[in-house]
Amino acid sequence: MNIDVIRQDTPGCYDKIFINSAGSSLMPNVVVEKMTEYLHEEEQLGGYEVARLREKEINKFYSEIAKLINCNPENIAFAYNATDAYAKALSSIPFKKGDCILTTNDDYISNQIAFLSLKKRFDIAIIRANNLANGDIDIEDFERIIKKHNPVLVAITHIPTNSGLVQQAEEIGKICARYDTWYLLDACQSVGQLIVDVEKIGCDFLSATGRKFLRGPRGTGFLYVSDKVLSKGLEPLFIDMRGADFINFDEYKIQKNAKRFELWEMSYASLVGLTEAVRYANNIGLGKIFEYNKKLVKRLREKLSQIPGLRLLDRGSELSNILTLKIDRRELIEIENALKDAKIFYSVSTKYNSITDFSSDKIERVVRLSPHYFNTDSEIDVVTRVIGSI
Ligand SMILES: Cc1ncc(COP(=O)(O)O)c(C=O)c1O
Repeated sequence: MNIDVIRQDTPGCYDKIFINSAGSSLMPNVVVEKMTEYLHEEEQLGGYEVARLREKEINKFYSEIAKLINCNPENIAFAYNATDAYAKALSSIPFKKGDCILTTNDDYISNQIAFLSLKKRFDIAIIRANNLANGDIDIEDFERIIKKHNPVLVAITHIPTNSGLVQQAEEIGKICARYDTWYLLDACQSVGQLIVDVEKIGCDFLSATGRKFLRGPRGTGFLYVSDKVLSKGLEPLFIDMRGADFINFDEYKIQKNAKRFELWEMSYASLVGLTEAVRYANNIGLGKIFEYNKKLVKRLREKLSQIPGLRLLDRGSELSNILTLKIDRRELIEIENALKDAKIFYSVSTKYNSITDFSSDKIERVVRLSPHYFNTDSEIDVVTRVIGSI
């Protein structure tokens, strides 16, 4: 991995320390160039003609994502963001009154809202598995709940929006396979950051976004659906002429592949932008990105934990590149001002971003740092020096 080349490819990192990839990361220049070129063609020829001329390139989207998560292109659908992908997956589960969803305390806020909305409509139950004292999912309890309640769906967030937690996606996958339960994984914060292999995880659905650790454009994402989902004929509740053929006045036929989860209209400029971002990551190699990130964030955690009064809000036995912190007797605004003055880009997480995992700590708002592979050790040192001087 050539960090100098990667930084040259990332104009957004020339004049600042950008440490907010869990929010919306910096796109490599090739992504912006590809999208601009595509839009200029649309300016000249109109969108339909460009899509026709660039059909081959558009189809690369599916193979590039398939390479990223180890599946076939037929298992991939383009989505407008992670929540869109997630909602389409959820809508394909044939819930009935009295069914149950098993999730965790750390599932993403919008997912929890979607479960509550389903509960309102179908009178389903939502069960949240217990955590161990360290924050990990209590796997034994998880299996006990599955045996007892026979949930229709298990829904887990791989890496929650804060707290550094990495949930045990593979272990959960093994349990779901034993009990033949649909398994939906929110991988919004994990794709691009770790090796995410759907074969190893064994999920039926995986939702992801483009703009975070994948470094793609906003308004993009994707949904993975397993062969089992396809062969059992699951389909999203609202399906259009892309997902199905209208073959008779009262009949439609769904697509054989995951395109049944797509809608006809989409921004192809954004799709080719995300393809380029994923190609960029695949070319470097997710293994290398993961190894680099692990060292980077270890340095950040070690240096921050030496600062008197600073509390890392880490949870779990395996930690991600998302780090939330508090400093005793310091208001959030003081930390924010110091970071802004030093041109450090970060984000703030509030309890409304993850009400369940924040509630145990009685925390309202915290600073969230999320370094990625274009960051350097010396940037980490500046960040820790600035925070240490508050
Ligand atoms: C864990 C997790 N899941 C899902 C989402 C939603 O992603 P999107 O805004 O692309 O729908 C987020 C966004 O921050 C997230 O952190």
